[in-house]
Amino acid sequence: MKVNFLTVSFWVSLLFLSGCKTNSLTRDAYTVNKQSVGSEGVVVSAHPLASRVGVEILKKGGNAIDAAIAVQLALAVVYPGAGNIGGGGFMVYTDKNGNAATLDFREKAPGKAHRNMYLDAEGNPVADLSTTGHLSAGVPGTIDGIFAMFERYSKLKDFASLIDPAIQLAASGFRITQREAMNLNIERNVFRKLNNYSIAFVKDELWKAGDVLIQPELANTLSRIKEKGRAEFYEGQTADMLVKSQQMNGGIMTADDLRQYKSVWRKPIIRKYRGYEVVSMAPPSSGGIILMQMLKMLEPYDIASLGFQSGQHIHLLTEAERRAYADRSVYLGDPEFNKMPVNHLLDSMYIASRMRSFQQSRATPSSSVKAGVAPLPQESEETTHLSIIDSNGNAVSITTTLNSSYGSRVVVEGAGFLLNNEMDDFSIKPGTPNLYGLVGGEANAIAPGKRMLSSMTPTILLKDGQVYAVIGSPGGSTIITSVMQVIVNLVDFKMSPFDAVQSPRFHSQWLPDKIFVEEGSWKPALIEELQRMGHVVEIRAPIGRVEAIVVKGGLAVGVADKRGDDAAESVK
Ligand code: DON
Repeated sequence: MKVNFLTVSFWVSLLFLSGCKTNSLTRDAYTVNKQSVGSEGVVVSAHPLASRVGVEILKKGGNAIDAAIAVQLALAVVYPGAGNIGGGGFMVYTDKNGNAATLDFREKAPGKAHRNMYLDAEGNPVADLSTTGHLSAGVPGTIDGIFAMFERYSKLKDFASLIDPAIQLAASGFRITQREAMNLNIERNVFRKLNNYSIAFVKDELWKAGDVLIQPELANTLSRIKEKGRAEFYEGQTADMLVKSQQMNGGIMTADDLRQYKSVWRKPIIRKYRGYEVVSMAPPSSGGIILMQMLKMLEPYDIASLGFQSGQHIHLLTEAERRAYADRSVYLGDPEFNKMPVNHLLDSMYIASRMRSFQQSRATPSSSVKAGVAPLPQESEETTHLSIIDSNGNAVSITTTLNSSYGSRVVVEGAGFLLNNEMDDFSIKPGTPNLYGLVGGEANAIAPGKRMLSSMTPTILLKDGQVYAVIGSPGGSTIITSVMQVIVNLVDFKMSPFDAVQSPRFHSQWLPDKIFVEEGSWKPALIEELQRMGHVVEIRAPIGRVEAIVVKGGLAVGVADKRGDDAAESVK
């Protein structure tokens, strides 16, 4: 049974409802459900059409993985700013018995990459080189990841049925949202500068909400992948187009880089928080370790008694964030290139020692917080999240990205898909902040074939071996603190799933030494209280776009963040 508690009628529906075929994906009006409850499965993603695609797969008898593959492919069409086949990401999966698996399909540095590739002769970072254009792209992992998931877990075992909706959306077009129109218009000049051929994202006039976006080249690429499988992207015509476009424009990605790309099944990070098992992503994402460090620093405190959005609540969480992000900057990177002290970083004595300098009413300046001393072994903002649960209780949490909005802004000529600018997630020079203000050092320095450190935190909470919550978010460095706050809202403040996602958020990350708070939702008195404690508070744009599912009494409640076009759908 499904009840839509909150249905936001999208304005497109007002304009186009009459005369539309109601079951067609393309050109139709659609509604945006911010909450949807089902007993037979729920899908929450960044776009209403993608969520609908997922629900249709569940209805056909597909499992959570089948739905996730179809949603990811649909997002590559309907949400070009972050949905992708030219990027990468991470998947956290738990089956109905609570067995967990995680897949790393993060991009890799090309074989010709080197540590100083974004620096000039004086050793200074060259503006925009790691964020814009052909040289900013890592070797994409999404298609390999999709096939790895499909081969291991698909129930339908029919790849065509999972990619067909995306092909249809790309070939026939769909009506874009107000937000998408605005974002495409913002990038118009950069798109034109970087792509000297016609691309679907630029037309003569500016975009407006309700315009139809048709992507014929992307439809052809997806059709070739449907026919020839993974090899089409990494060794076929699509690979040829990608390599050619790199060669002609100063990129360094080669046919070998593509041929050698492989996603990796990794051991999940699993720790308990107040009786819930938290399953999250291991390096090369920092998400799981930093999330668990913060939760473990908080566990000794009775957070609920502080009151939601009290000065003490924000202060305590900020101090945990500060200490965990200091460790992130030093210790974390690609596990295949670093020996990381993971167990030590998650050790309860170590975590307790990190909070020893916490003062109840005084900010600890970040200048006095260094990464903790962990023994190194002797030898040596656009992303998108989808959360899905099926009728058997299998759950999928995937965060995937091109890095910033529309990635490198390069559309591969003839292939119609956007390439990521994930190389900027490396530390391009020690101490130089990346797009998200994160600093790093040796552990995250550029090297050929290395994966850049991520903050993506796809997470699943289990209670007594069954799924309790599926959570994740985009937002660069703010991802980990957004996921942490939603967990605290659910577990400590006992908020409804809806409130846990929609409540105001804040973020801090050691450096810069500030608390960022979302505009419009913070009382001046609270900001003044935090300032009196010594915090620097800065107001900023919305933080994160969380897609969450919470299981309660046999029903799964899907909640889509109000901060975007995100939508929840469920199976009746
Ligand atoms: O992997 C990371 O941490 C970043 N590339 C994520 C970027 C992101 O979330 C942008 N979204 N708003």
